Amino acid sequence: MAKHAIGIDIGGTGIKAAVADVKNGKLVSERLRVETPKGGKPKDVAQAVAELVNLLDKEKNLEVGICFPAVVQHGVTKSAANISEDWIGLDAQSLFARKLRRHVHILNDADAAGVAEAKFGAARKQRGLTIMTTLGTGIGTALLYDGVLVPNAELGHLEIDGVDYESMAAFSAKERENLSWDSWAQRLQKYYSRLEALLVPDLFIVGGGVSKQHEEFLPLLKLKTRIVPATNRNSAGILGAAALAYKNRRD
Ligand code: BGC
Repeated sequence: MAKHAIGIDIGGTGIKAAVADVKNGKLVSERLRVETPKGGKPKDVAQAVAELVNLLDKEKNLEVGICFPAVVQHGVTKSAANISEDWIGLDAQSLFARKLRRHVHILNDADAAGVAEAKFGAARKQRGLTIMTTLGTGIGTALLYDGVLVPNAELGHLEIDGVDYESMAAFSAKERENLSWDSWAQRLQKYYSRLEALLVPDLFIVGGGVSKQHEEFLPLLKLKTRIVPATNRNSAGILGAAALAYKNRRD
């Protein structure tokens, strides 16, 4: 039997969704995208997600995984990056389950991207500690040990030189400050060196839209740890969320 599940990736600007084959990591539907409702309020986001799920699942029987730019502990969203603060402390899992009339699995967006890389991408069969990083509006991180996710590592907020280093080294900082690849890479060097010193990983993976241009900045970094671009770019969140929803399905 085909192993299909829906993955939804909620971000500050857009919500992306597709049906994925969780065996081979390929999308088996078109990838839908709608704008995140203005303000990113829970009720409006849940409505937008329900509309996407209805379009993708006429039979109403697929598992649904949803990833989110927030810490998610036991279904409760505990933070909110670039979405409404109303999510903080909300039982988001129950909100989506009510709206979609089924069990849903929700998790942090970088965690979903990390799971996608471990199952279908650059961390496949990787032993030891992999640190997935997504360089976008913020810096998302995921820890995987022997392919198993340790959820909610918020290492994008590592404090270096007295500042939350996400504000210095995320791709948004490069754009905001109009940094050259070289100047941005100096900040990334500081960031990855600190991660390396604290956690001694076996592999770093770099995701986020800018990882398409990895040749511009990864060769500038000098690290002991191997650092590679993610292989699942635009669909990483969708794939990881779908894979975990399928794995945690309730038969
Ligand atoms: C948030 C993380 C999120 C990352 C990427 C950070 O600001 O704290 O939870 O994974 O942005 O969206």
